[in-house]
Amino acid sequence: MSSYIIEGGRKLKGEVSVSGSKNASLPIIASTILNGGTTKLYNIPDIRDTRITLEILKYLGCKVKKSHGKIEINSKNMVDKEIPEHLMSQMRSTVVLAGAILGRFKEARFSYPGGCDIGARPIDLHLSAFKKMGINIEENYGFITCKCDKIISADINLDFPSVGATENIILAATFAEGTTKITNAAMEPEIVDLANCLNKMGAKIEGAGTKIIKITGVKTLKNISYTVMPDRIEAGTLLCMTAATGGNVKLTNVNANHISPIIAKLEECGCNIEVGKNEITLNRTKKLKAVDIKTMPYPGFPTDMQSIFASMLTTAKGTSVVVENIFENRYKYTSELNKMGAKITTEGKTAIIKGVRRLSAAKVKSTDLRGGAAMVLAGLVANGITEVTNVEHILRGYEGLDKKLRTLGANIIVKEGE
Ligand code: UD1
Repeated sequence: MSSYIIEGGRKLKGEVSVSGSKNASLPIIASTILNGGTTKLYNIPDIRDTRITLEILKYLGCKVKKSHGKIEINSKNMVDKEIPEHLMSQMRSTVVLAGAILGRFKEARFSYPGGCDIGARPIDLHLSAFKKMGINIEENYGFITCKCDKIISADINLDFPSVGATENIILAATFAEGTTKITNAAMEPEIVDLANCLNKMGAKIEGAGTKIIKITGVKTLKNISYTVMPDRIEAGTLLCMTAATGGNVKLTNVNANHISPIIAKLEECGCNIEVGKNEITLNRTKKLKAVDIKTMPYPGFPTDMQSIFASMLTTAKGTSVVVENIFENRYKYTSELNKMGAKITTEGKTAIIKGVRRLSAAKVKSTDLRGGAAMVLAGLVANGITEVTNVEHILRGYEGLDKKLRTLGANIIVKEGE
């Protein structure tokens, strides 16, 4: 496992472009299975999660060509319907491949998905939706086999607006007979991006971005090229890092509408934010003020920003209260921050952060993807030289984070693991 070595105390300054969205790329890569032809994708971030997803597609028989920021996927000769366990177990979002494989072949076999250790993360909502669509599900020795003669349209009410389940239903319903209706659908921008991509291929998806999505089955899809949306969590992360260091940074390739709850909270903390077309500038001159945050499904405050925002609040003036409503085990990083002098106590869904004057450098570990980014933020503001270990978690989801931070004046280098 590698580490980041960070010398704290430098203000981030300058301009940096935000990469393409991890969470939009994964279902969009899955959607290329459906058209049985060629899809050219732009703005896919080069991170571990997209590389694993592309590896799975190759294993299944797709041709994948990468060149100059473009990924061309040809799924014509895809034959295999079984996602290999050693790749499936590395990340949870491989589960959306099931919806795409089922949509095309009416059959898919996979094991329970892996991913960050932030809670139980069951897939019951995905499987019960598949059942409603006439798909038989058998579970044996940790493997799930889904099969049917045809996928039928259904009215599916999600008990919780699960992002992955909404994506899986859309993918499985694209070729179904009739109109499938999802109520209490997830409204995240990544769902809209997936629907836009599929609609460009010729699918009929209405209402993405609202609570009710209707998918009317079509017979065929066509070859397209598509540019994935910017990563809203990377944008939020870089803004919080700038705010924490008292810096002044302009982000380009960013959609401010996607991060309005983050912008609102940063303003409440005392940051100055200017929003332009595809760009955001944050400047912090006054001391940060404590604020309260509550994570919620979109358009609420995103759970993926919780650890990063909390890390920034460790040196704010006053006491902040954080409530995590989406995942039940997303405070593991707090004990690492406390090693650096933060004062965070947690109980159940709630974390209480008493602002301290300064963090001090320490050797700390990335507990998961976003928890790792929270440690990097702490390293940027701490007194002395911090080592953040297990950066492989961070590399799952951030494209060239250390390089971007160096562009902004941070002193951060990678120490390769043995
Ligand atoms: C996606 C994002 C992840 C983000 C999360 C919530 C991707 C690749 N990942 O994850 O970064 O943190 O949305 O915004 O897009 N649940 C069930 N049963 C299910 C499915 C989910 O109980 O069948 C629960 C989960 O345990 C969790 C909550 O629903 O408590 C939210 O999960 P979900 O929206 O499905 O998240 P993911 O799609 O896994």
